[in-house]
Amino acid sequence: MIKGGILIIDYGSQYNQLIARRVRESKAYCSIVPPNIKLQEIKKINPNGIILSGGPSSVYMKKRPSIDREILDSGIPILGICYGMQLIANILGGAVSRTDKREYGKSMLFINNRFNIFEGIPNKIISWMSHGDYVYRIPKNFIGLARTRNTRYAAISDKKGLIYGVQFHPEVAHTQYGERIISNFLFKICGCKKNWTMKSFVRNSIKKIRQTVGKEKVVLGLSGGVDSSVCAVLLNKAIGRNLFCIFVDNGLLRMNETERVRDLFGKYLRMNLVITNAEDKFLSELKGVYNPEKKRKIIGRLFIRVFEKEAKKIGRVKYLAQGTLYPDVIESKSTFGGPSAVIKSHHNVGGLPKKMGLEIIEPLGELFKDEVRALGKELGLPKEILLRQPFPGPGLAVRIIGEVTKKRLNMLREADSILIEEAKRYKIYYNIWQSFPVLLPVKSVGVMGDERTYESVIAIRAVTSNDGMTADWAKLPHEFLEKISNRIINEVKGVNRVVYDISSKPPSTIEWE
Ligand code: XMP
Repeated sequence: MIKGGILIIDYGSQYNQLIARRVRESKAYCSIVPPNIKLQEIKKINPNGIILSGGPSSVYMKKRPSIDREILDSGIPILGICYGMQLIANILGGAVSRTDKREYGKSMLFINNRFNIFEGIPNKIISWMSHGDYVYRIPKNFIGLARTRNTRYAAISDKKGLIYGVQFHPEVAHTQYGERIISNFLFKICGCKKNWTMKSFVRNSIKKIRQTVGKEKVVLGLSGGVDSSVCAVLLNKAIGRNLFCIFVDNGLLRMNETERVRDLFGKYLRMNLVITNAEDKFLSELKGVYNPEKKRKIIGRLFIRVFEKEAKKIGRVKYLAQGTLYPDVIESKSTFGGPSAVIKSHHNVGGLPKKMGLEIIEPLGELFKDEVRALGKELGLPKEILLRQPFPGPGLAVRIIGEVTKKRLNMLREADSILIEEAKRYKIYYNIWQSFPVLLPVKSVGVMGDERTYESVIAIRAVTSNDGMTADWAKLPHEFLEKISNRIINEVKGVNRVVYDISSKPPSTIEWE
C-alpha cells in the first residue's frame, strides 16, 4: 500500500473506480480499501484524506457496511458521497430517511456556500443524483452547503471544514464542475501532492506484483490485443522469466497475427512465449455449427481446454494473470451474474480461473482503456498495438455468418487485411472504433468480364463509438468505400459483391453474431 494520498472506502457503488480515476486525473495517489478497515491500519498508510463512496445499502439496514466512529473523529479530512454522506450523518447524530421524492438523473444544485469544496464554482450547477434515502437532519456542528429542489441537504460540511458530504455524484461526467469539486477536496482540504504519474504507477505496480507473486510462476493468456499485451509487458518487467505467456492460435485470427506476436513478444522482448496451434481442433468442433451462441460457447470452452493443457506443461504454476480492465469487470458482472439479459457470451473474462485452481492477479483491474493505452506507451509498446481496434475473443468466427470453414476464413482474412491496409492509408483506422468485413451466407449474381458469376457477399461494418456500448455507423468517404469494394471484389476469390452496413447500436450490435 502506498503511503499518503487518498483512501477510497468501497461501499459498493458502481462509480467507485470512476472516483479513483478522477483522483488520478488530478494527479493524486489513491487506493480503494474495504469498509472494515480500522483506524490503526489507516494511520499506517497516513492518507491525506478519505473518500467514502456511494453504495446500494441503507444506513438503517441491520447489516450495513459502516465506518468506525474513531475514523470520523481522527482529524483526517473526509468526503462522503451519497451513501458515504448518509453514513457520516447517521453516525455523527444526524438523521436519514427513505424519501418519497427519489432523485435519479440530473438535478439542479443550488450552492449557498461557495468556499472550500465549492470554491470557484457557480451558484447553480447541474448535478447527477441517484438516491432513495436522504439526510433530513444534519449532525450538530454541521452546516448545509447546497440543496436541490427535493433535497434540502444536498451538500454538507462540519464547521471546521474537515468533513464533507455530498448527496450527488461529483465523479460522474454529468455533474458540472465535478472534477473541480473533487480537486478542491484533494488539494485545498487534504493538501495532496500532485505526484501521480504513469511512471509512478508502473513503479508501484511492479512493486505490488513482486510482493504478491514472490518467486512463483505466472501464466497469462496473450491474445495480441491491447490489454493482454500491456499486461504481459508490465508483468515481464516485474517478474521476467517467471512469466509464461500462452498464445492460442485458434485459426480464427487475423492475417499474420501469430507471426506478429512471435516477433514482438518472443523475438524482440524475449519473453517466455508458448504458441500453440489449435486450428484443427477449433475448426473440427465448429464444423456444421450455424448458431452464433453455440459457436461462442464452443470456442470459449475449447480455449480453456487448450490453455489448461499448455499451462500444465509449464510445471508448478501458482498464478493466472488476466488483462481485465475495470469496465470488463462491470460488464461481465452484469452479463453473467446480474439480472440483465445475456446479449452475447463474452468468453475472455471469467472463464479460466475457477476450473484451473490458480490464484488470479489482474494488474490492470483498476484502469480504464485510455489509461491502459497510456501505460502501454510508458512501457514502450508500439502504436500499432496500443491503438489497435478491438477484436472479439471468438475472432473471425462471429464475422462469418453460417458455417466456419477454412476456405471461408481465408476469404474473410484477405478482405480484412485489405480493409485494414486501406483504412490506415486513408487515415480512418485510428479514428474510428472498429472497421471490419463480415462474410454473409448468401450468394448473388454478378458479371466479371463476359462471365456470369454467382458468388459470396461481404458486408463492411464500420462504427464510431466511445466504449462499444453504443455505436453509430461511420459516415466514411465514398472514395474509400469505392476503393475497398474494388479491391475486395478483385482480389478476394469467391466474392463478387460488397455492401455497407448502416445500422447503429442499439438496436443492432457491432458484431453480427
Ligand atoms: P457487440 O457486438 O456486443 O460488441 O456490440 C461490443 C464490442 O465488444 C466486442 N466483442 C467482444 N470482445 N470478446 C471480446 O473481447 C467477445 O466475445 C466479444 N464479442 C464482442 C466487439 O468487437 C465490440 O467492440
